[in-house]
Amino acid sequence: MTPPPEGGGGPPLRHLYSGKVRDLYQLPGGQLLLVATDRISAYDYVLPTPIPDKGKILTQLSLWWFGRLADLVPNHLVDAPIPAEFAGRAMACQQLSMVGVECVARGYLAGSGWQDYRRTGAVCGVALPPGLAEGARLPEPIFTPATKAPRGQHDENIPLASVAGLVGTGPAAELERITLEVYRRGAAIAASSGIIVADTKIELGYDAQGRLLLADEVLTPDSSRFWPAGQWRPGRPQPSFDKQFVRDWLDSPEAGWDRHHGGAQQPPELPEWVVERTRALYVEAYERITGDRWP
Ligand SMILES: Nc1ncnc2c1ncn2[C@@H]1O[C@H](COP(=O)(O)OP(=O)(O)OP(=O)(O)O)[C@@H](O)[C@H]1O
Ligand SMILES: [Mg+2]
Repeated sequence: MTPPPEGGGGPPLRHLYSGKVRDLYQLPGGQLLLVATDRISAYDYVLPTPIPDKGKILTQLSLWWFGRLADLVPNHLVDAPIPAEFAGRAMACQQLSMVGVECVARGYLAGSGWQDYRRTGAVCGVALPPGLAEGARLPEPIFTPATKAPRGQHDENIPLASVAGLVGTGPAAELERITLEVYRRGAAIAASSGIIVADTKIELGYDAQGRLLLADEVLTPDSSRFWPAGQWRPGRPQPSFDKQFVRDWLDSPEAGWDRHHGGAQQPPELPEWVVERTRALYVEAYERITGDRWP
């Protein structure tokens, strides 16, 4: 077993929680240390093979975006020393009371949005014009919240009225407003680098004063669909800088994996070339969006 991390020569940090990708610890000052590992998840499974540097890329890209969104919405970052062993892959944050809703904005039809539209002509109860193709741009970005499903279960798209039932009418409207503003800002900035943000998911939480803060990660390839704008052709799945590449490989005969097996079969190890290609896509997303070279 690996020993618990130390808070910089001091006592070991208290481990609070591990999600699919992140490990959460309590810092000596009571703040939260959000550590992004190199774990990758797909179809709600954590894959057995890590992607080198992925956690650092997600953390650095999130920090870049938090800065560019700070005038729209305050965030969970605090100034506290990061233990050396997590350098580059961790954020010191306020521990928030998280809103139990995944706040998704979509500007294009993909994924579960496309599935719902094909079945019902609407997404989360938002009616859309008929005849839209897969990958089509929506007339306006829409808020398509989802339940935050317990581990091993799938998130489910829900209408705004259900969000209001969960968190109250005023807070639901706030979630919608903030989510759409973050999406619009993110999409506009990414567009100037030739990237379409098809959709994005943000997470928000309340601080001790009851203020809503932007938390978790923001506008990363794990939380968003990034498409190269030059290759956008509605009517088919789009090439992307997110983990669609890994999903496609998992669905291929080479993987030999049936994800519909009801959880009985764990996902396979990724071959070296899939790891390399996936890492390259994360690096490329980082470099194109920030305009900086990945270190
Ligand atoms: N400031 C914060 N305060 C409290 N919790 C936070 C904060 N920022 C992020 N989180 C939570 O930390 C966890 C991050 O872990 P990770 O991204 O690995 O989770 P996940 O697998 O996406 O989701 P799950 O929560 O279902 O495990 C999430 O549960 C997220 O809601
Ligand atoms: Mg997460």
